[in-house]
Amino acid sequence: MKKRIGVIGIGEIGTTKHLTQLVRHLDEVEIVALCDILPERCEKANADFKLSAKIYTDYKELCASPDVDVIHVCTPNPLHCEMTLAAFAGGKDVYCEKPLACTYADALKMLDAAKAAGKKLTSGTQWRYNTAPMAMKKMYENGELGDVYYIRSSQLRPRRLPAYGVYTSKELNGGGVLMDGGPHSIDLPMWLTNNYDVATVRGVTFDKMKDFPEGNDLGPWDPENFDVEDTAMAMITMKNGAMFYVETAWVSNMQQEAPGIIASIAGTKAGVDMVGPGFEDAVRVTKMVDGKLTTETISPAEKYNMWEYDMDRWIDCIIRGTEPAVLPEQAAVVTRVIEAIYKSAETGETIVFD
Ligand SMILES: NC(=O)c1ccc[n+]([C@@H]2O[C@H](COP(=O)([O-])OP(=O)(O)OC[C@H]3O[C@@H](n4cnc5c(N)ncnc54)[C@H](O)[C@@H]3O)[C@@H](O)[C@H]2O)c1
Repeated sequence: MKKRIGVIGIGEIGTTKHLTQLVRHLDEVEIVALCDILPERCEKANADFKLSAKIYTDYKELCASPDVDVIHVCTPNPLHCEMTLAAFAGGKDVYCEKPLACTYADALKMLDAAKAAGKKLTSGTQWRYNTAPMAMKKMYENGELGDVYYIRSSQLRPRRLPAYGVYTSKELNGGGVLMDGGPHSIDLPMWLTNNYDVATVRGVTFDKMKDFPEGNDLGPWDPENFDVEDTAMAMITMKNGAMFYVETAWVSNMQQEAPGIIASIAGTKAGVDMVGPGFEDAVRVTKMVDGKLTTETISPAEKYNMWEYDMDRWIDCIIRGTEPAVLPEQAAVVTRVIEAIYKSAETGETIVFD
């Protein structure tokens, strides 16, 4: 029998990622329910994706429905925990968008609820499944990089502040860029090196660019209605002695090597950077060859589409019981780091993990 899926939050990511990817799997799943407080968005999605899903405006009703097996939570961040808990209470598997939760305590509640229900949980840091990061992880795993001691993970968007929805409201979004690009940038170095064992976090946040709204690719915003950070940096030390430096900004007067989220890895045998011109489609390897320092840019032969790869793994997970691409334990650590960055930025102190 096909798995019956309900999607809550039919906004940007609910449509451009979830519905777009789910309709590639209609041989194995059925999209039976759509839920949004704006029901016209569900009606439009039914028409756009040629669905005849039942429309809900109350997520609790959907989560309690016996006609649904799996829930995708695609609503603003502060709603993730309560919606996921309601879905587990209704006995569903859950794909919850990133960040998994706004606090580590909530993330742990979600993990516990998944275990108690015996159901699957994943989150949406699909960025790791692009061509370049996949190639870099392979290089790490086969020992080409040697001992990796430093990774820089960046997403400095010149002018891409999401001016739609609730992104600039702390109450409605849970925070700013750290809750948006942050989860991808924090997850990437940890996933690349299979290392989620954080020792300490020192973070800094800025809200300086909110006062310069002109020229944004995603429309204008109101600086008066903006109480979140637009830029954040963090130094994350790991228990094995490695250090990850993460920088993320919605608006910055800096340029980076490629659009999107990029990383550079320093290892004892070789170093590798993600480079453009497109979205992380090439890697640049620097190492000693025959006593000479060489740098070579390679376009990996194996190509990946992060949206497809991520959803394919989720479909495998709910149909065949495999592990999801993003483990809930990994997503919980990412939320814990975000919380620590905020605390460190506020207090000026380094946050020590136990
Ligand atoms: N994985 C990624 O790369 C990625 C990218 C963008 C956004 N996201 C995440 O997706 C989530 C949504 O972001 P978005 O950009 O789609 O926002 P959005 O504002 O476009 O969509 C959110 C939708 O949720 C609906 N909603 C709000 N409250 C609701 C409620 N109580 N019940 C039902 N529906 C409700 C809104 O009406 C809206 O349609 C956020 O958590 C964000 O972090 C992930």
